[in-house]
This record gives sequence, C-alpha cells and structure tokens, in this order.
Amino acid sequence: KKPRITVIGSINMDLVTVAENMPEQGETISGDSFKTLPGGKGANQAVAAARLGAEVHMIGKVGDDPFGRALLENFKTQGVNTDPIETEAGTSSGLANIIVSNHDNRIIIIAGANGEVNPDYVNGFKKQIGASDYVLIQFEIPKRTIEHILDLCETLGVPVIINPAPAMQLDDVHWEKAAYITPNDNEAEKLFAYDTDGLPKFHERLIITNGAKGASFFREDRMITVPTEKVEVTDTTGAGDTFNGALAVALAEGKALEEAVAFANKAASLSVQKLGAQSGMPKREEME
Ligand code: RIB
Ligand code: NA
Repeated sequence: KKPRITVIGSINMDLVTVAENMPEQGETISGDSFKTLPGGKGANQAVAAARLGAEVHMIGKVGDDPFGRALLENFKTQGVNTDPIETEAGTSSGLANIIVSNHDNRIIIIAGANGEVNPDYVNGFKKQIGASDYVLIQFEIPKRTIEHILDLCETLGVPVIINPAPAMQLDDVHWEKAAYITPNDNEAEKLFAYDTDGLPKFHERLIITNGAKGASFFREDRMITVPTEKVEVTDTTGAGDTFNGALAVALAEGKALEEAVAFANKAASLSVQKLGAQSGMPKREEME
C-alpha cells in the first residue's frame, strides 16, 4: 500500500533571479537569468513526497490569478491530489522573490492566499487528515492554524512532522504534539536553545538538518549524525523541503529513523543539482 501523506501549508510562485553576486546596498547589478517556478514550502514538500511514490493530498490555497492557475496545474502534473485546494477570491497567490548567487540565496515571501489558510478551512478536511499516515506542516501559514492542526491531529491520532521554517516560536504544549520537528541548524539554535542538561529542548523529537554536513537526531542523550554525499550544488532552494517530503515517505513506509534520515539526505542532495525548488527532486527510481 502506498504511504499516505497530507501536507497542510503554503503554495508560492517563485520568481527566481540568478546573478553571480548579490547586489550590495544601493547597488544595481546585471543578472544572468530569470524564471518563474512553482514553490512554497508546503507545495515543495508535497511534490517531493509524490515523486517518491506516496499518495499525497495538499491542503492549501492559491490566489485568483494566473499564478494560482499555473500552481494548480503543476500539482496535477506532479500527481499531487488537489481536491482540497481552494482558490481565494480577491487575493494574490503566495509569492517568493528569490535571488540565487554563486554563494548564497535570499528570499522575500508574500503570503497572499497562504495567509487565508485558517482553522475553519482546515476543519473541512478532517476525513482526509484522519486517513493519513503522516501530516506535514511548515510555518508559512498563520500561527493559529498551526496550533489548530496540532490539536486536531492529536484528536485524530495522526502523527505530525513540523518543519519549523521560517523559524517561529510555539508554546511547549504545541511542540510536544509533534512526532518529529525538523529545523535546520539556524532554526534549531533560535527555537530550541540548549536546556539545562546541555541538550536542545525537545531533543527526543528533533531532526536537525545541516546542509552538506547531513542531519542529526538524538538517541537517548547522544547525538547521531547521518552524513550526506558530497555533490555539485546549483541551487539549495527547497533542499530542506525535499528532505522533509522524503522523510515523511520513509517514516510512513516504516523505515527506522536512521534509515529514514539517510533516505531524506539522499533525496535532498539530488535536489540541489538543478535550479528551482522542485526541479531537482528525485523520482523513486533515481533513489535506488
Ligand atoms: O523552502 C523553499 C521555499 O521557500 C521556496 O520555494 C519559496 O517559495 C519559499 O517559500
Ligand atoms: Na533544486
């Protein structure tokens, strides 16, 4: 049986400008290329999981604009179930302004329709949510919706993976409702600063990603780092999303944690070899 993953989160159009260097303050420079590419942390994680063979249901909203229509079309091409997705009248689709340079990437997001993903709307999909092996969430939708999803999934008995990106603090009561929390090293530092016993808060559910260094989790009180293969990097945008989508698939398939993290590392390392958040995400065959 296919693992069943529900992603509740953001859907963006990424406006990607590629330049050798970042412009300095007040400086104008000539870039190399521009592309509009589907993105958004929620959408990226959904596509990553679908490419790896899961049955994926996306709960989120797009705007009533050409980007919204293109984003819906993209999900269909990628085999993501879009039945829950609503088109929000009078609002733009979520947008991400991305600059990719040789050294760095920088992103400004505009929430648009993602800001309208509210608890009432989510409640309309209790059946789909309740039938999931895992629910995946990120922090590009309103905080009250995040809290609501955690409460709801606890009631429904569905495990939730929180990818806390961009970093935003929740109260302990809500962090405790996550099966796993997957910050990158910066987010981990910000959100789970060390406890009195020298371990990060909630270390028993943390999986901390650290780019080319791989990802770490805690067994008892010991940190286990799962290394990743060295690859040629074109664009790291969406690498964390690929990691999360793949992790959910592997866990839903019943893989042990260390194996699941290795699988997620591998998917993420393949994804950074192409420009765009979704372009490099591997299909299942490419993983074997
Ligand atoms: O994680 C990468 C994503 O962050 C991009 O696709 C962009 O839309 C922003 O949300
Ligand atoms: Na990529």
